[in-house]
Amino acid sequence: MNKNILLCVSGGIAVYKAVALVSKLSQAGANVKVMMTASARQFVNPLSFQVMSKNDVYFDTFDEKDSSVIAHIDLADWADLILVAPATANMIGKLANGIADDMVTTTLLATTAPVWIAPAMNVHMYDHPAVKRNLDRLSADGYQFIEPSEGFLACGYVGKGRLEEPEKITALVKTFFSGQSKPLKGKTVIVTAGALQVPLDEKHMISPQASGIIGRALANEARIRGAHVIEIENSNLYDVIQQLEAYKIQYPQAFFIHAANVPTIDETPIISVEGTNAITFGQQVQGKPMINILSDSWIDFSENAQLNGQFLATTNPQLFAQTLWSHITKDEVQ
Ligand SMILES: Cc1cc2nc3c(=O)[nH]c(=O)nc-3n(C[C@H](O)[C@H](O)[C@H](O)COP(=O)(O)O)c2cc1C
Repeated sequence: MNKNILLCVSGGIAVYKAVALVSKLSQAGANVKVMMTASARQFVNPLSFQVMSKNDVYFDTFDEKDSSVIAHIDLADWADLILVAPATANMIGKLANGIADDMVTTTLLATTAPVWIAPAMNVHMYDHPAVKRNLDRLSADGYQFIEPSEGFLACGYVGKGRLEEPEKITALVKTFFSGQSKPLKGKTVIVTAGALQVPLDEKHMISPQASGIIGRALANEARIRGAHVIEIENSNLYDVIQQLEAYKIQYPQAFFIHAANVPTIDETPIISVEGTNAITFGQQVQGKPMINILSDSWIDFSENAQLNGQFLATTNPQLFAQTLWSHITKDEVQ
């Protein structure tokens, strides 16, 4: 695999499994470095991780071992992928709120590498509305998740909350770095997200309410699949039309996803998708599950009504984006 993986370990009972994860990742050829929170060190001595990874273990933001670099920035840049495993409720809450009060959280805010979060906690903690809210926010921010599995929990409960097995996490990482997981490599994907604005006069504009969650999830998944992604969010609609015309010339093979909302007033110009590989969103019949237009054909998601990402705030945008890209790369792009 020959990739740099930074494993961030926070303080749950599953820390012992993170030691096995380092071993599995190393056996798979990854270069692994480990960072621990203070709570994680209550469960396992850093020496275990040091021995398994054959690297220093990091836990103190202010312990600068190499004076030529700032360690947390250096590690944030070094990583090809960051795993947060196990991710405590506390860690998830801090990350969702942009808190950077220790080495792990500081590094996570400083990185541009993909970050995968593997929650592990008591089943009631996992179901707590605050934890759910934080997970939704992280999903909207583009983080990926390794869902906890169900089973006996160390706290004595049975339910969802177990850290996924190290073998399974390692397999996911291997797939991520293998060529198979990059079906959009060499493709350009242009995504509009959020709310596009139409100016009414020099000082006023009209804009719908839109979170941009679906557009961002689609852009993020396209990036993961290897695409060069151009994301256009919350922009002036006239500027966007001009930009798109220029992009059509610059990237004639680009795949265009129009996931932004536009104001529904008479003066609103229509974004033309003719002559492009494009998806826009709409409903064929009022009240029926979402249908998407892919070029001239319809993708009918009625069998997957729970994936109706456009209308339900409770939807899992990441799952929706994964399903849509899998469909497209199966039928259209390859
Ligand atoms: C025995 C024990 C087991 C714990 N297991 C978990 C756990 O599995 N998941 C979790 O979110 N918190 C767990 N906690 C609570 C966290 O350690 C605590 O919230 C801590 O502040 C997390 O800090 P960190 O996120 O900086 O590592 C556990 C605490 C104890 C004492």
